[in-house]
Amino acid sequence: MAKRDKISKKILVIGGDGIGPEVTRWGKRVLEAVAEKYGHEFVFDEGLMGHAAIEATGNPLPDDTLEKARKSDAILFGAIGHPKYDQDPSLKVRPEQGLLRIRKELGLYANLRPIKLFDELLSASSIKPEVLKGADILFFRELTGDVYFGEKKKADDGSWASDLMIYHAYEVERIARKAFEAARLRRKKLCSVDKANVLESSRLWRAVVQRVAADYPDVQCSHMFVDNAAMQLIRDPLQFDVILTANLFGDILTDEASQIAGSMGMLASASVGDGTGLYEPIHGSAPDIAGKGLANPLASILSAALMLQIGFQMQEEADAVLRAVEQVLKKGYRTVDIADKHTENSMIVGTDGMGQQIIQQLAYS
Ligand code: IPM
Ligand code: MG
Repeated sequence: MAKRDKISKKILVIGGDGIGPEVTRWGKRVLEAVAEKYGHEFVFDEGLMGHAAIEATGNPLPDDTLEKARKSDAILFGAIGHPKYDQDPSLKVRPEQGLLRIRKELGLYANLRPIKLFDELLSASSIKPEVLKGADILFFRELTGDVYFGEKKKADDGSWASDLMIYHAYEVERIARKAFEAARLRRKKLCSVDKANVLESSRLWRAVVQRVAADYPDVQCSHMFVDNAAMQLIRDPLQFDVILTANLFGDILTDEASQIAGSMGMLASASVGDGTGLYEPIHGSAPDIAGKGLANPLASILSAALMLQIGFQMQEEADAVLRAVEQVLKKGYRTVDIADKHTENSMIVGTDGMGQQIIQQLAYS
């Protein structure tokens, strides 16, 4: 291993809610192990967000957390959400507001969600292995526009409510450029997903993407309606390379696509744009298993790898983490969400068991 100059980075860790803190602990441990192995210095700080922050301060994104986020080089985030709010739609202060606000405040308009199946997990998915083998998709989900951030209204008497689905051309253009750049470094295929047969905002989306595509003649650009894309994803995932889509469509399609990677517990994401990048699993807070030591820490560990690769341009270090995950899966270790009928009971591990295996593997390789 080639030693490079010592690099120093400040990382804010926000565990969040439910299984967030228990999985993020391992993402952080992996970063510590990488720093040690490669002679870097990662300085960690902690912040509150979500239900945990509401309980402590009344605010889902306390000023102190935002301040620390702005001053950090990267953020490792866990998960957000609590059943209390899901059961009571009348609550005005909600955990998710914390995550949406930090994305907006930091200008994190591009959410990258790589969907890659580790061969070892071919049989863990509910989709047939022969359909999945070789799948490798990179989603670019727009993250600070759309119906998520459009004007919200509701009647005083509760008889109607609305959320405005709005896009500005510049919002589409900046993420489209990022997606085309990424496609250039991959298999040079980009599929933009919209609902341009019905929605005005999707027609704007499509027109802008077509315009941007003209600057990337080496990338094959196609367009697909979102209902069809939802079907094509599980019918034939190998047809896709880069998928570019809007905030809400991307939210839904990437949960669906997690089945291509075996489990929600495997999917990492990077939110980047103007400010400090935020790296987080795509899974939620999973309150049903929180605190039981069952959650799969690999999505957090793979999010840490994305931080190394995209945030810090440490490709070698990121590859080492990916290799460690691959090796541990090859040895047969599984958390319950990725176990299948062939998994021996003795190979089923909890959150800490899986985390420890990755740390050990990193030290060897
Ligand atoms: C995600 C999540 C969030 C979203 C929620 C928790 C606000 O589902 O990151 O995919 O909808 O963006
Ligand atoms: Mg989601």
